[in-house]
Amino acid sequence: MPIVTVTRRLRFNAAHRVHNPALSDEDNTRLFGKCNNPNWHGHNYVLEVSVRGPVNETTGYVIDLGQLRDVVEREVINQTDHRNFNIDVPYMAGINPTTENVVVQMWRVLFPAVAPARLIRLRLWETENNYVDYEGE
Ligand code: NI
Repeated sequence: MPIVTVTRRLRFNAAHRVHNPALSDEDNTRLFGKCNNPNWHGHNYVLEVSVRGPVNETTGYVIDLGQLRDVVEREVINQTDHRNFNIDVPYMAGINPTTENVVVQMWRVLFPAVAPARLIRLRLWETENNYVDYEGE
């Protein structure tokens, strides 16, 4: 039976301040630049959710992408869209909201939520030029 990867793209926007309180203000500015601005700033994020599995003989689908969208919206987008990662988003509590840290926390929420579909990759775009991939390692 053929094994296929399918991907759903979702968009949201959110504010953040990338900041490590264990470091000095000077070091935070040096490390994080504009993303360390004290009064927040926003990004238009794009999240790509990929699941992999056999093609169902009856439906011809690996997963209904509308169902996958509903799960991702319920589990992460609704808690995140138009919010501030530093103060509003439960799964980011106490975690510095770099794109890397966000994608790992999203994985921890989504991996069990999409089961029995098998989540194999999250790709999170922070800007048109920068994205991170996480595959659960
Ligand atoms: Ni930023």
